[in-house]
Amino acid sequence: MPQKMQRIGGGMDNELQARPAHDVDIGNRADEEMKALGIDRALISAVVDTFYARVLKHPELGPVFDARLSGRWSEHTLKMKSFWSAVAFRDGTYGGNLFRPI
Ligand code: HEM
Repeated sequence: MPQKMQRIGGGMDNELQARPAHDVDIGNRADEEMKALGIDRALISAVVDTFYARVLKHPELGPVFDARLSGRWSEHTLKMKSFWSAVAFRDGTYGGNLFRPI
């Protein structure tokens, strides 16, 4: 009986220890995939800046976004860079709330 408990306990420990290593694997694989595609954080930053600059100039979309984000654009673009970097590099850095109703 004690042997069984020990085995279960050992398994849980291993699982907890394995998780950070697994996360590192996922991150490394994502880094390689993005490198192969030529995507780095500087590119994500440029794409986000370009995208929202064009959104703002758009006659229909611009006012929709600006009504909500006026005065907070730099905060928003930083957040979106963090979001897309977390998606691309799977680094878990985005701590926002994607599905919060606006
Ligand atoms: C017509 C389509 C969209 C509109 C009008 C829109 C509008 C907005 C606005 C106004 C905000 C800022 C909310 C605030 O801080 O007050 C926001 C946040 C955000 N949006 Fe969108 N969005 C659209 C599509 C998308 C898409 C396609 C994605 C990603 C796939 C996305 C991802 C996000 C994220 C990650 C945030 C930040 C949420 C947070 O953590 O606060 N949005 N969106």
